[in-house]
Amino acid sequence: MRLALVLLAACGWDANRMNDQPRCEPGDRTPWLPDQRCDQAPPPNVVAWREIVAPVAAHPPSPTTIARGADRFSRFCAPCHGPLGDGNSAVARDMVLRPPRSLHDPKVVGSPDGELYRTIVAGYGMMPAYGTYLGESDRWAIVHYVRVLERSQATKLAELPAPHREEAQRWLP
Ligand code: HEC
Repeated sequence: MRLALVLLAACGWDANRMNDQPRCEPGDRTPWLPDQRCDQAPPPNVVAWREIVAPVAAHPPSPTTIARGADRFSRFCAPCHGPLGDGNSAVARDMVLRPPRSLHDPKVVGSPDGELYRTIVAGYGMMPAYGTYLGESDRWAIVHYVRVLERSQATKLAELPAPHREEAQRWLP
């Protein structure tokens, strides 16, 4: 038992250290590089990380893609981020060190669609990458569905047109 506690403590410390380590951000200066600039020109033939975003034009939002996004979201994202995307899930309750962010957080709501797409492909911090499990069209379907989820939680009942308000009312407790 004592050994298990020591191991857990070591894990917690390690995870924190990896998240909070100092970084050389674009625009920063550093004594470790010859010209002391963090933004170095990439070596020849390097593909920029930002280019992993495939254009949305081929996968525009539609009722069909949004329904597909809802299905993929429930399998790949909801286990951690919760069915409403608010970070309320059984897994999240156990991820105390770095819980899954609420997708209604202004940082996510205000971020461009490409940023969300990139998070799905490459992961983010403690979140694993899902690029190998989800193809281009499914990634965009999830992005469109997350935008729908965000609007669904940010819209006041009174703001809905009458027929939609009546429909929504039926779903509310
Ligand atoms: C295994 C649990 C897990 C799953 C599954 C998961 N996430 Fe996450 N997600 C996290 C955690 C944990 C964080 C916070 C990471 C951190 O801050 O280090 C996060 C952060 C995020 C963020 C915020 C990124 C930022 O810029 O702050 C977005 C957006 C996101 N996830 C979207 C998704 C989507 C979309 C899916 C489904 C494809 C998904 N996540 C699946 C755990 C998960």
